[in-house]
Amino acid sequence: MLVLGIESTCDETAASVVEDGVKILSNVISSQVDLHKKYGGVFPELACRAHIDMILPVIDEAIKKANVTINDIDLISVAQGPGLLGALLIGLNTTKALSFSTSIPYIGVNHIEAHLYAAMMEGNKNIFPSLGVVISGGHTMLLKINSIGSYEKIGTTIDDAIGECFDKVANILDLSYPGGPEVEKLAKDGDLSKYNFNVGRDKNSKFNFSFSGLKTKILYTVKGNRAKKNFPTLIKEEEKKHIAASFQNTVFEDLISKASLACKTFNLKAIYFGGGVSNSKTLRALVQNKNLNIPIYFPNFGLSLDNAAMIAGLGYHKYTEKKSSDPLDLIAKTSYSKF
Ligand code: KG4
Ligand code: ZN
Repeated sequence: MLVLGIESTCDETAASVVEDGVKILSNVISSQVDLHKKYGGVFPELACRAHIDMILPVIDEAIKKANVTINDIDLISVAQGPGLLGALLIGLNTTKALSFSTSIPYIGVNHIEAHLYAAMMEGNKNIFPSLGVVISGGHTMLLKINSIGSYEKIGTTIDDAIGECFDKVANILDLSYPGGPEVEKLAKDGDLSKYNFNVGRDKNSKFNFSFSGLKTKILYTVKGNRAKKNFPTLIKEEEKKHIAASFQNTVFEDLISKASLACKTFNLKAIYFGGGVSNSKTLRALVQNKNLNIPIYFPNFGLSLDNAAMIAGLGYHKYTEKKSSDPLDLIAKTSYSKF
């Protein structure tokens, strides 16, 4: 079964053709990073305009690169949410028009669930019950995965998302957007034990995360106590790499220790990481070094950051399970109550 995936939740316009939920025939991503860089984050109106310009050429390219034609496609799978409303509507309405004009069935899927599915693609075995660790720009979550489509929330952030925190700390350190890869680069030569940073605690749950106090601590370290974002930097340039390394290590140690505790507490048999932050080589190395004695899966290259292959892959599973197409009045969802 050939599935065309379409992704437009935030600042990537992407399309992909995937066979039987696992074999990626093409994975085309048009990134808008350069467009948003000077604003230090995603500018929603500009994102929408770029999606309009890019969505048809990207779909065309994905079909060509897969060496198929639109007539060979059995299903279209689109990211229904969560994301920016205008951006979602462009992907969803393009999908509906394509589906209506070709009579190819279509299905809407949850982008966050697709991030978790990314680590199960391309031959990785599905082991359940397992732990899903979603670490993206907008989400930080520990989920018990009973099977594809059946999840129970174990923990979440009570303030900033992990990727958002990387982006904000990058901004404080005068690094460009998106901040995660820049922080990782700068941290390479830094001393991760030089600064004693701490994450926040949620007294209601040992599985929840809190990063906003850590972000403020870094702001005060760089710009002085009670400083605001736009205050001048007070520290020497060479201190920044130590701050980046100490910050990154604090966040990742917290993430891994909560993930490990969740596996022990709920008797989970594997860990699947997903979302942009799982692209970090530092995180991957740290997880391996911990010898958690449990199979650990990260998405393959090109599947951590936003992409449409994960949307197509998950769509295959949802469609084969429910065996019906979504109606043309399906709405875009900026958020989900479950996630
Ligand atoms: O999943 P994603 O592409 O988009 C969302 O669904 O949000 O995640 C983007 C996030 C950004 O916050 C970016 O800074 C972060 O992933 N990120 C990283 C790294 N690469 C991307 N964070 C830490 N280290 C990285 N190497
Ligand atoms: Zn994402």
